[in-house]
Amino acid sequence: MTLEAKCLECQEATEEELLARLDEVLAQYVEVPGALIPVLQIAQAMFGYLPETALRKISVALSKPYSEVAGVVGFYSFFTTVPRGKHLVRVCLGTACYVRGGKQVLSALRDLLRIEVGETTPDRQFSLDVGRCFGACGLAPVIMVDDDVHQRVKPTRLGRILDKYRQTEGDASANDSPADSITGEDS
Ligand code: FES
Repeated sequence: MTLEAKCLECQEATEEELLARLDEVLAQYVEVPGALIPVLQIAQAMFGYLPETALRKISVALSKPYSEVAGVVGFYSFFTTVPRGKHLVRVCLGTACYVRGGKQVLSALRDLLRIEVGETTPDRQFSLDVGRCFGACGLAPVIMVDDDVHQRVKPTRLGRILDKYRQTEGDASANDSPADSITGEDS
């Protein structure tokens, strides 16, 4: 699992409302063996990440030490305690992409977004992550923004790519993908 978008219904809810919903979820799992990971996955889908308040609630409800809950979260890379942005930007650092400029693309994104890998921009628009291969090696270097693949990416074109996603804010067509599922940047 990669960084996972917050569920649509939860995007409008306050943290208080989400914690109340988490209580309802926990009530269903309290007697279920091996419930910790499924509950963490549900909580992450609700909040978009795993805040400490949610982890402490889970710890108490499932009668597990907080250190154990935090340890599981830290062990699995698909869990995060950092709030995520609306859009996830992933840079492929697989061999093909790396040798064809992936490192420079990542460096340019870090400069553009002013964040490091694993971080989210202060306006919660973008999170930055890396991947090992997106299955498009012949079109390297490749990045993904949400579910969109951008191929043969050039660092100088990254600003335009990001702008496509920013421009969907408040747009009635915001539910449409701002890019084709596979987009070439070499034209
Ligand atoms: S190495 Fe980047 S898509 Fe395969």
